[in-house]
Amino acid sequence: MGEKICWNIGVFVALMLVLSMNNNYNESSSTSSSSDEFISYNNINNKLMMEKKVCDEIYVVGEGETLQTISEKCGDPFIVEENPHIHDPDDVFPGQIEVKAEASFQKHKPTKLFIFGDSYADTGNTIKNNSFSWKEPYGITFPGKPAGRFSDGRVFTDFIAKYLGLKSPVPYNLRKMMMANNNLEYGINFAVGGTGVFDTDIKPNMTTQIDFFEEIIIKDKVYNASDLTNSLAYVSVAGNDYNYYLATHTNDSISGILPFIRLVVNQTATNIIRIHKLGVKKIAVGMLQPIGCLPLITSQSSFQNCNDTINILVDIHNALLTQTIAKLNQEAQNGNSKFLILNLYDSFNSALGHHKTYNKNNNKALIPCCVGISKEYVCGSVENNVKKYEVCENPKKAFFWDLFHPTQAGWHAVYKKLQSMGDLHQLLS
Ligand SMILES: *[C@@H]1O[C@H](CO)[C@@H](O)[C@H](O)[C@H]1NC(C)=O
Ligand SMILES: *[C@@H]1O[C@H](CO)[C@@H](O)[C@H](O)[C@H]1NC(C)=O
Ligand SMILES: *[C@@H]1O[C@H](CO)[C@@H](O)[C@H](O)[C@H]1NC(C)=O
Ligand SMILES: *[C@@H]1O[C@H](CO)[C@@H](O)[C@H](O)[C@H]1NC(C)=O
Ligand SMILES: *[C@@H]1O[C@H](CO)[C@@H](O)[C@H](O)[C@H]1NC(C)=O
Ligand SMILES: *[C@@H]1O[C@H](CO)[C@@H](O)[C@H](O)[C@H]1NC(C)=O
Ligand SMILES: *[C@@H]1O[C@H](CO)[C@@H](O)[C@H](O)[C@H]1NC(C)=O
Repeated sequence: MGEKICWNIGVFVALMLVLSMNNNYNESSSTSSSSDEFISYNNINNKLMMEKKVCDEIYVVGEGETLQTISEKCGDPFIVEENPHIHDPDDVFPGQIEVKAEASFQKHKPTKLFIFGDSYADTGNTIKNNSFSWKEPYGITFPGKPAGRFSDGRVFTDFIAKYLGLKSPVPYNLRKMMMANNNLEYGINFAVGGTGVFDTDIKPNMTTQIDFFEEIIIKDKVYNASDLTNSLAYVSVAGNDYNYYLATHTNDSISGILPFIRLVVNQTATNIIRIHKLGVKKIAVGMLQPIGCLPLITSQSSFQNCNDTINILVDIHNALLTQTIAKLNQEAQNGNSKFLILNLYDSFNSALGHHKTYNKNNNKALIPCCVGISKEYVCGSVENNVKKYEVCENPKKAFFWDLFHPTQAGWHAVYKKLQSMGDLHQLLS
């Protein structure tokens, strides 16, 4: 991993050199966002692509080429990362290895990303004051200190942005602090950890998040109609509505939640329709992940077994959601409109099952990396200036970070699975 990063920086430097010689890239110092090392790539890519012939999606390696020369030629710094079977950057053979390049070569690639939802997508919107996402040890892997993500590093939004070749969109609440005046050019992230489509004990709910979006469009006029038409919206609904419902309906039997599932899916659809009416033609929504496998739930079994009862309820939510989205697609008048589902259920399960740490007799995949030292404490707890949590030795080997959230490595595994299942490809067509 370390080598890979170094190597990518190498490519980056090489690209910068190429561009400064051409003297047409003058934004190198405007990438002030803490949020991404991928950032400047997109600009560079665009510049390079205007000048050079675009590479095909499948690239057949020529004589004397290395991944580095291919990266430069194709303007795609992700080539190495996207080909994990290649361990050594020089490990390519003329004509034999096909390097699959990605989104940067697609005609219908969205140029902006608007994100709504919760902690699976939030990259810094929660108020610093009272959120674990702004406390140690959150952010230790990326960006190296707490920065508002509910993970040790990147979250799902970052990986979607990466897939599209975009900088991870600016968190709405931080937009005024970010100096670059083009900081809204990749879209905006409205997601706030802990929120739902309905009210939970954290604000703003998704309706209000969409109110902010509407204000940006109608009042501030930041984006015009063609900007919005060429954008992707992603809606993350990871289950806070259900957590809140269960916490406030402790006397109900578990089946009492069934009518509520219908309401949550209905409200999700209502939100998607509203985003569509605001002008975004392509909208993706995440399925619920297998909540019964989250450490919060599996702690009851010392992180040994997923709770099937809960996963059946998740299945019901996902089936209803799938049905509802299919209906929206049928009803869509405009042939350009697309409502998509990303299957976080199967991709989570698969990533958990195939994760490096997985072993049939000793399934460590369900154990979170960061845990409270006892039941009263959670990841990030501090009492009288004493840490009350423990962090695993290598977060890159854990799927889960804390009781609710995957690690960056976990999200990466989910992302790779979504890619191989073809779910991400829909975002480009
Ligand atoms: C980049 O160069 C263009 C034209 O030379 C100029 O208009 C623009 O302000 C420059 N941008 C930055 C960030 O320096
Ligand atoms: C920070 O939290 C404290 C206590 O929870 C609260 O009194 C204060 O108003 C908060 N400040 C901000 C800026 O939200
Ligand atoms: C979302 O929050 C707003 C403001 O607090 C509230 O008026 C509205 O009813 C909520 N919407 C839903 C669907 O819960
Ligand atoms: C919309 O705004 C973009 C910049 O965000 C600009 O490039 C484009 O020309 C505008 N389109 C129209 C139709 O005004
Ligand atoms: C749950 O039931 C108990 C006993 O019947 C009652 O005291 C309590 O108020 C109920 N809680 C709620 C949230 O309705
Ligand atoms: C949500 O439910 C209401 C009331 O049953 C219904 O009128 C509406 O069409 C539903 N919305 C969607 C998007 O299914
Ligand atoms: C699964 O979760 C439900 C709801 O919280 C609980 O009633 C049940 O006991 C759990 N099942 C197992 C096997 O832990």
